[in-house]
Amino acid sequence: VGGKARFITFEGIEGCGKTTQLRRLAKRMKARGIPFLLTREPGGTAIGRGIRNILLDARNRNLAPLGELMLYAADRVQHVREVILPALSRGAWVLCDRFSDATEAYQGWARGQDRRMVRRLNGLATQGLVPDMTFLLDLAVEKGLTRALRRNQAMPVNGQDRFEKEDLSFHRKVRKAYLHMARRHPERFVVVDADARAEEVEESVLRHLSRFL
Ligand code: TMP
Repeated sequence: VGGKARFITFEGIEGCGKTTQLRRLAKRMKARGIPFLLTREPGGTAIGRGIRNILLDARNRNLAPLGELMLYAADRVQHVREVILPALSRGAWVLCDRFSDATEAYQGWARGQDRRMVRRLNGLATQGLVPDMTFLLDLAVEKGLTRALRRNQAMPVNGQDRFEKEDLSFHRKVRKAYLHMARRHPERFVVVDADARAEEVEESVLRHLSRFL
């Protein structure tokens, strides 16, 4: 199996199924003997896991939006430097559950932080690294939140996190932002209907990746 190592990201609203799809893709890559690394943001490093706890803790109701943005950026600085760039340079694919697009959608479009500043911070944090392909698992907000709620009920210790507590209009803004960004960057975004069966979503992902494999 030859070819260049690729950087692939998955994005979408809460409950869109990206974690399930990442696991499925990882299984396929393993079966084909392609070296890869499965990771996520926030929380892809030890320092990032500390940051993730602050960001998602529902008790942190008073976290300032600018602080929130900077914590995501700090998590990304560490992740890119410590995990993503080293993996790519040793020839491993990187499959990442959320990346800089999430900051533009959530902190920029939904939270209302200045989007030029968000993009500038993203540029610094990523050192200019852009995914080769970004799968946007698109789903109606009501459906995603219902799925996320069901997942939480299955794992009651976790409960609802700070974002899952946001209202429908917040999540609608996130969805709309992602779709807008996908239209603006058709060279790397692939929008997949996440309401389809998991098998179908997986097929679609593999079909789009086949040009790299
Ligand atoms: P997850 O539930 O997919 O693990 O993501 C954690 C939460 O963090 C999710 O609600 C989306 C949010 N998030 C942002 O608001 N900005 C970001 O830059 C990232 C990576 C995630």
